[in-house]
Amino acid sequence: MFQINDNYQKLPGSYLFSTIAKKVAAFQEANPDKQIIRLGIGDVTQPIAPAIIEAMHKAVDEMAHAETFRGYAPDLGYDFLRNAIVENDYKARGCEITADEIFVSDGAKSDSGNIQEIFSEKNRIAVCDPVYPVYVDSNVMAGRTGTYDPTSETWSNVIYMPTTKENGFVPEFPKETPDMIYLCFPNNPTGTTITKAQLQAWVDYANKVGAVIIYDAAYEAYISEDDVAHSIYECEGAKTCAIELKSFSKNAGFTGVRLGYTVVPKELKCGDVSLNAMWARRHGTKFNGAPYIVQRAGEAVYSEAGKAQLKEQVAYYMKNAATIKNGLVEAGFEVFGGVNAPYIWLKTPDQMTSWEFFDYLLEKANVVGTPGSGFGPSGEGYFRLTAFGSYENTCAALERIKAL
Ligand code: MLT
Repeated sequence: MFQINDNYQKLPGSYLFSTIAKKVAAFQEANPDKQIIRLGIGDVTQPIAPAIIEAMHKAVDEMAHAETFRGYAPDLGYDFLRNAIVENDYKARGCEITADEIFVSDGAKSDSGNIQEIFSEKNRIAVCDPVYPVYVDSNVMAGRTGTYDPTSETWSNVIYMPTTKENGFVPEFPKETPDMIYLCFPNNPTGTTITKAQLQAWVDYANKVGAVIIYDAAYEAYISEDDVAHSIYECEGAKTCAIELKSFSKNAGFTGVRLGYTVVPKELKCGDVSLNAMWARRHGTKFNGAPYIVQRAGEAVYSEAGKAQLKEQVAYYMKNAATIKNGLVEAGFEVFGGVNAPYIWLKTPDQMTSWEFFDYLLEKANVVGTPGSGFGPSGEGYFRLTAFGSYENTCAALERIKAL
């Protein structure tokens, strides 16, 4: 008789955003006349920029002719894209990353869930609390997290690093020594970030204790302050301790197109074993490359026209972020984030739990957000709104919230 991976049975409930989608669908069915505004999941709403659409059309046409048709993509990514990434995301910032350290994928969500596969089941992970749920759930599936305590909503073998108002949303070095440290800056869900000097301290700590940092930089395009690093490789010594995950979803609107990449430096080793070689082996075995059309779209992100158009798109979403932040402050809320990230993190009013506030907002204002407790126990009493809606919907949502 076959057996299943029992670790899946340990996962509590469904994936956070699936739970929210089901609740919202049920509310809409019961209230078909209500115009719901969705500021929950961080999904973009603006169309793909013209320079990128043009590149995709051209790539589609190439597929129609035998001379320019492409079959399987190189499993680690086309050189034209890997080189564009190196030039624009690394060389331009003074980081020495080479094309063979870039692994093109179908998005940072897959990579952030899959990267744990190349590490021992015995490793202890440390996560910020609250945290993007994929980091923890994928480690649960791999059997690395111990047992779940439904009362504290924590896993026995996970090290939680609270990032709350009390510590200025800056995680402190944990008392127990972790093997793998997940960091995401600018942060999802809190919308806050840390300075380059604070990130350097994490790099120094990881090198000292022999831990690896899985650094999720999906929201890098939203950084507006000068003392914030755009890549962990801006920090000295990061190449011996850090893997970086990047997404095209948030900076270029590719949530439905699907493209991302992971950087595994050749200097990152466990004894004599190269993690770059391990990830190449894993990627080559389990992945057949992101589609040619999509990789050409990714290349256009780095064209002069693409860069200019995306700068405007990021500014559009950050105008929403300011609208939400200012509107909430006016309405008397305590608000964080929204300066270097498209997320606003607010304290729920009147001691409401995160889910109570979710229901209240949905019922009274027909606005959907994300309950902070869905991201971890320290998220309780907080609530996340995304700036990725349309400007009109964002303004309308804020008017409704102010009127409550
Ligand atoms: C979020 O809302 O946290 C993100 O959109 C989820 C994701 O990028 O997978």
